Amino acid sequence: MGEDLFWAIRGGGGTSFGILLAFKLELITVPETVTVFNVSKTLDENATHLVHRWQYIADKIDENLTLKLLLKSIRSRMHGNMTVQASFTSLYLGRVHELLLIMEEKFPELGLIEQDCTEMSWIESILYFAGLKDESLDILLSRSPAGVFDRIYFKAKSDYARQSIPVSGLIGIWRFLHEEAENIAELQFSPYGGAMSSYSESETPFAHRAGNIFMIQYAVAWTRPGNGELKSHVNWIRRLYNYMTPYVSKNPRAVYFNYRDLDLEMNNQGNTSYAQASVWGLKYFGNNFNRLVRVKTKVDPSNFFRNEQSIPPLSSWYNKDIRRWSS
Ligand SMILES: *[C@@H]1O[C@H](CO)[C@@H](O)[C@H](O)[C@H]1NC(C)=O
Ligand SMILES: *[C@@H]1O[C@H](CO)[C@@H](O)[C@H](O)[C@H]1NC(C)=O
Ligand SMILES: *[C@@H]1O[C@H](CO)[C@@H](O)[C@H](O)[C@H]1NC(C)=O
Ligand SMILES: *[C@@H]1O[C@H](CO)[C@@H](O)[C@H](O)[C@H]1NC(C)=O
Repeated sequence: MGEDLFWAIRGGGGTSFGILLAFKLELITVPETVTVFNVSKTLDENATHLVHRWQYIADKIDENLTLKLLLKSIRSRMHGNMTVQASFTSLYLGRVHELLLIMEEKFPELGLIEQDCTEMSWIESILYFAGLKDESLDILLSRSPAGVFDRIYFKAKSDYARQSIPVSGLIGIWRFLHEEAENIAELQFSPYGGAMSSYSESETPFAHRAGNIFMIQYAVAWTRPGNGELKSHVNWIRRLYNYMTPYVSKNPRAVYFNYRDLDLEMNNQGNTSYAQASVWGLKYFGNNFNRLVRVKTKVDPSNFFRNEQSIPPLSSWYNKDIRRWSS
């Protein structure tokens, strides 16, 4: 298919270039036994201090260890008031005793002990992180979703942190979390570094490489349809995004493509200029956006494969009369 197109379809904007009928993956080796834990701390248990510290080790703790953070507002079991719960959720590619040594050296503040940890196979860890740890592996073959709700509505946004957020900034985030009721709003901090940084920005269309400490996902979910709820939750997440401006990447403010965010602007129904599409294109793909546009212009000049934020071809005079997007 040519070097350029093969580059573009590995992360360059689903549905901009065509439909894949088959692909092969090159697997990497993981040890037979891995170790997981999920340790939660509330504000009374020093969560603010721990989250602040985490930012200094998250991307460099150990190449075999991922230590994620999940933040939400909950009612305290100790005193009944609202508090923030920070859950440190981790996968270590190795055995529990090596993990404890690393944590003791790099992040002793968390106070991790052996009882917090579980050894399992890597494929079992997939169920664990999906919240399905009591299921058998056969559930991976099931083609129907195992969710609690028939239907939930949600809005998500993302950001990249290239420096640590000061304690005062974190406390402002806690205020936002308290505004939304229990278990409805969540922030996830996903560490970068390690293998994420070992590729150059142009190796694949995914440009958010070295220099990013972690990626932030903001998410808010609700179950009742209707404009009232929609408006208040979407308004909340936009205000939070606005509040975060001084703490996250800028020029452009980077965004994770898989958490597609239509707040960033959309393609026109007909012709979309390069300049217009750059508004979201540079946020999702950095400088790789330019190459994606070149590939698109070459392989799909009539813009057959398109959606609200697909990569536009350069000379899209052809698209004067495009039908509505199917949504
Ligand atoms: C909370 O962190 C401080 C350091 O900032 C430490 O002195 C204190 O012992 C910690 N408290 C708990 C309950 O871990
Ligand atoms: C990570 O684990 C692999 C084996 O799975 C090992 O070869 C490598 O040395 C480990 N890296 C570190 C930094 O310990
Ligand atoms: C719980 O909230 C009440 C009312 O806002 C406040 O007076 C009280 O000090 C709080 N308790 C704790 C332990 O934070
Ligand atoms: C970790 O704990 C938190 C808080 O109890 C929970 O919301 C989250 O789903 C847990 N994560 C996993 C992977 O079990």
